[in-house]
Amino acid sequence: MRVLHVAAECAPWAKVGGLADVTGALPAALSAVGVDAALVLPLYREVRERGIEGEPVAGPFPVRLGGRAWPVTLRRATHPEGFPVVLLECDELYDREGIYVDPGTREPFPDDLERFGVLCRGALWAAQVLGRWDLLHAHDAHAAAAVAMLAAGYRHTPLEWTRSVLSLHNAGYQGLHPLAAAATLELPLGDTRPGGPAEFWGRLNLLKAGICAADGLHTVSETYAREIVSGPEFGFGLEGVLRERADRLVGIPNGIDTRAWDPSRDPHLPARYDAADRSGKAECKRAVHRLAGWDESDLSRPLLAVVSRLVDQKGPDLVLEALPALLDSGARLVVLGAGSREYEDAFTRAAASRPDGIWTRIGFDEPLAHRIEAGADVFLMPSRYEPCGLNQMYSMRYGTVPVVRATGGLADTVLEWDPTTGRGTGFRFEAPTSEALLAATARALETYRDPHAWARLVWNGMARDFSWEGAAARYKDWYEGVGRG
Ligand code: ADP
Ligand code: GLC
Repeated sequence: MRVLHVAAECAPWAKVGGLADVTGALPAALSAVGVDAALVLPLYREVRERGIEGEPVAGPFPVRLGGRAWPVTLRRATHPEGFPVVLLECDELYDREGIYVDPGTREPFPDDLERFGVLCRGALWAAQVLGRWDLLHAHDAHAAAAVAMLAAGYRHTPLEWTRSVLSLHNAGYQGLHPLAAAATLELPLGDTRPGGPAEFWGRLNLLKAGICAADGLHTVSETYAREIVSGPEFGFGLEGVLRERADRLVGIPNGIDTRAWDPSRDPHLPARYDAADRSGKAECKRAVHRLAGWDESDLSRPLLAVVSRLVDQKGPDLVLEALPALLDSGARLVVLGAGSREYEDAFTRAAASRPDGIWTRIGFDEPLAHRIEAGADVFLMPSRYEPCGLNQMYSMRYGTVPVVRATGGLADTVLEWDPTTGRGTGFRFEAPTSEALLAATARALETYRDPHAWARLVWNGMARDFSWEGAAARYKDWYEGVGRG
């Protein structure tokens, strides 16, 4: 079986969040179970800056979109995990700083529609150039139009029998545009009639268009698959269409890249460790203290951490509200994140006013994310919703205990610690409030004071297997079902 993935991100070349981690690992995991998988990605400036350019295989070819022809060249590269990546080269659209947001204005690029429209149309062209495909697998709103385009008109082409699947990594980002943009993408006119597949409250909704057109729908955890059909809190207005297509919707949880995230050989860490010998973890904690300017000789205070996009979804406001009480309880906090200016400023101010308790780094810093995962004792994820979430899994693997809101993939991967049985891998809470976060963190800190219990809890997390193998086998079965129609 041959599957062509289409996505706007791919780690380690172009990463904003967990989508990149998934598209950077899933194709390789699929190959290991006998699915021949490749990925189409724009050739962004940051990909080039990493020395990745690929070899030209076709083009420039005029990709038509909105009455214009965009010259696109297909370049073939090999991902570090071994799978083929087709890079779409179109400098006018992709040779600039930023993936979704213009770093100058902090707003989405005004030609967003063209950037991702050309990704979709270009991917369908690439698919035809590169042979036959059983499935096109689009990820999120940026690639969803490829599914709608495929359904709308590739009869009598090599794609005639290609089926399509769409993964929803986050139903909160839907690709909304003025309705007239449907013409630019050349989606069928009927799609934009009120209540039509691409119409959403008078606007064009690319995710909805993809949901309606795909042969199969997938999301990244079982709980989130139930949540998104349950109501607007998780479905963001798409719960109705998702409910109508619920028989096509599966939840297959993400794995993690257990090679890139391995405390026993992580090149970013000042010291390495594993479940049997965790002594190197103390060295990692010391290194975080050094970075924060804290006393390195006293590591006794519990170290909490947040590594996250700083947006409402992740509940940074709950951490900010809980902060005084967290620090008064004797804990310290390190924060690495970027996102909305309001949250960035609030964490920066908090660090300036209580420098002995909180240290903040605003920005995106992959090596530092690894060092914080290793150096912290407790990892906070008070997400309002979390389709899967990867950091809780990285945390457990790094012996760092997650405190999570029990939603989506967090609910599926973190088990509440039970001091009587010695089972469990973290601490969970239900209400999206700072009080609930504080109560769960208090349970974590109480357990931290009992070294035996803590060692057991850490061990339980480190022993969990979050590798991609199981997920890849489930994808394969699902693909085969979709392929049979
Ligand atoms: P989401 O995709 O919603 O952001 P995930 O938990 O699935 O959430 O994945 C987030 C990924 O992005 C993780 O690999 C995390 O380490 C990384 N990440 C988030 N913010 C930063 C940052 N500021 N610097 C480095 N890595 C980050
Ligand atoms: C999204 C979600 C996150 C998920 C990631 C990868 O960005 O917010 O929960 O882990 O996609 O699927």
